[in-house]
This record gives sequence, structure tokens and C-alpha cells, in this order.
Amino acid sequence: MDDRFNTAAGWVLFAGIVGLGLSSLSSKYFHGSKPERPETLGYIIEGAEVEGGEAAGPDLGTILAEADVAMGEQQATARCGSCHTFAQGGAAGTGPNLYGVMGQPIGTHAPGFGYSSALAENGGTWNFEAMNEWLLAPKRYVPGTTMGFAGLKDDASRASIIMYLNSLGSNLTPPAPQEAAPEENGEEADAGEAAEAEGAADEEGAAAAEQDAAAEQDEGGA
Ligand code: HEC
Repeated sequence: MDDRFNTAAGWVLFAGIVGLGLSSLSSKYFHGSKPERPETLGYIIEGAEVEGGEAAGPDLGTILAEADVAMGEQQATARCGSCHTFAQGGAAGTGPNLYGVMGQPIGTHAPGFGYSSALAENGGTWNFEAMNEWLLAPKRYVPGTTMGFAGLKDDASRASIIMYLNSLGSNLTPPAPQEAAPEENGEEADAGEAAEAEGAADEEGAAAAEQDAAAEQDEGGA
């Protein structure tokens, strides 16, 4: 064998090694041929809310506390007035009259109105929670209802309408805002437990005192 052959073989070997290295490198960066996909597709937007995360918003007490009855009247007239009347003794339209509906059993408020069986048999009372869920998404709250209203997502408008309805002869007390509740509750619970523990200690003390007294009596008798 001559030197030329060795040199040529050396180059072939070298080319092969480089080629191998490149192909394994490129497969590291390009996954095109493989079925695997990145774990999360698209961009992740920090702080974006997942749909259906209503629970993460302000609680009902808070949005009701910020509600405005006058705005509620406007909103109700505009959004609900095509189907509902609000005056006492008002006629039913496509929907029942709504004067004094807050606090009434669901689906019974306007006798003579042709409620759907879904609403009539729903049960429950129009309290703040129920009315809030109903106006947020009527067909989710009462599947099968004939109320042709898609729902009102805006907290301020919905809360204002609820407070307006409540002002029509019902005047129920809305739930209190819950914002700082977890902490307060914790403290209250602690205080309660401490008081109970003290009470228990007192009882023990009293029992001990009674025993002492009994012992003294015994001694006196002997
Ligand atoms: C397109 C017509 C329509 C619109 C708009 C509409 N409703 Fe209704 N509503 C109805 C009908 C129909 C019913 C009866 C549903 C059933 O029987 O299932 C109803 C029922 C109700 C009830 C239950 C009453 C009861 O006696 O239990 C409430 C409360 C109510 N609507 C409030 C509202 C409010 C507040 C709005 C506006 C934000 C509104 N509705 C918009 C048609 C409508």
C-alpha cells in the first residue's frame, strides 16, 4: 500500500465522522421527523385567566356592594325590558313580571305565567347567589329554560341589575364582601379555640375544687 491510499482512506474516515456528528447534532435541534411535540404549544401568557375561572374574580358580596341601583334600572330596562315588566302588578310578556321576584321560590313568582317545566321544577329560592348564576348563564344554571337570554358576563352590570330587582319590594340583605375573610376567619377560629380551652380549664378547676370540698367534709365527719 502506498501513502496516497492511506491519506485518501484517512479523509474518507474523517468525512464520515464529521457527517455522523452533524447528523446527530441536527437531530437535536430539529424534531421535524419525530412524532414528539413540545409539551406546551404556543406562547404562555403569564397571568392570563383560563376560561371558566369566574371563581377567581371578586366575590358576589364585593360586586354587589359596588352595585348601583340606578344603573341597574337602566340596564334592566335595556337588556330585559323586551320580555319583562318590573312594575308592581305589571303584565307578563315573553317572560314573567319581575316585581318582588327576589326572595321568591324559583319559577313560581308569577302565577298564570307559562313557566317551562325546567324552571318550575328547579326548586330553590331567588337569593343573591341563585340570581347571580342565573343572569350569568341562564341555560347553564337551569338547563332547558325557555328564557332566551344568553347571559350577562359583566360583573358590574349584572350586580346592578340584581340590586335593582332587590329594590323592587324585596329588600333582602346582600351577602357581605368576603375579600379579607380567610385571615379574619383564621383569627376568629384561634380566639374561639383559646376561649374553649380556657373554659375547659375552668371546668377542671371547678371539679378539683368540688373534690377538695368533699374531702374536707369527709374529714370533718370523721
Ligand atoms: C328574550 C326574552 C327574555 C329576556 C331578554 C330576558 N328574559 Fe328573563 N325570562 C324570560 C322567560 C321566557 C322566562 C321564563 C323561563 C322559563 O320558564 O324557563 C324568564 C324568567 C326569568 C326569571 C325567573 C322568574 C321567576 O318567576 O322565577 C328571572 C328572575 C328573569 N327572567 C330575569 C331576567 C333579567 C334580569 C333579564 C335581563 C338581564 C332577563 N330576564 C332577560 C325571557 C326573557
